[in-house]
Amino acid sequence: MFKLEAIKDMNEEQRLKYMLILSKGQLSSEKDDLANISNITGIINACIDNLNWTGFYLLRDGELVLGPFQGLPACNRIALGEGVCGSAVSTGEIQLIPDVHLFPGHIACDSASNSELVIPIIKKNKVLGVLDLDSPLKERFSSLHIEYFSQLVDTLNEYIDWDRI
Ligand code: SME
Repeated sequence: MFKLEAIKDMNEEQRLKYMLILSKGQLSSEKDDLANISNITGIINACIDNLNWTGFYLLRDGELVLGPFQGLPACNRIALGEGVCGSAVSTGEIQLIPDVHLFPGHIACDSASNSELVIPIIKKNKVLGVLDLDSPLKERFSSLHIEYFSQLVDTLNEYIDWDRI
């Protein structure tokens, strides 16, 4: 059972490190890819404060389709190049958006979102989807989050066969 007491006194970097430890524990103890990425969204949500939406969009037949997530119901499909997620896929680059209201074409699935971090999932030079984090706070994400969430996606790539989900 997950114990929230373990993290309540941790600073942000300790929480991010703990998130990686728990994620590796999950991935090394379960073979099912869908169960794994579902619980990864739960681990992120439990470890990191001030997130209103955390989840995956996976590339299916040329568009992003909603995967496991924590938060309010969200857009089912996002076209490549559209919104923050579609831009992460078309550029292959991490999108750190301090204020989503200043991002042209931002897709507001949840009106509570004010900042966003999107990490593209790239394996063997192919973009396969994104990990999307939304916060109700402006400027919630920093280079620290890029560092640890990139490590998380690298770890996911070691374990997950995205085509099998
Ligand atoms: N804001 C995203 C859409 C997905 S939601 O945040 C869950 C975007 O602009 O691509």
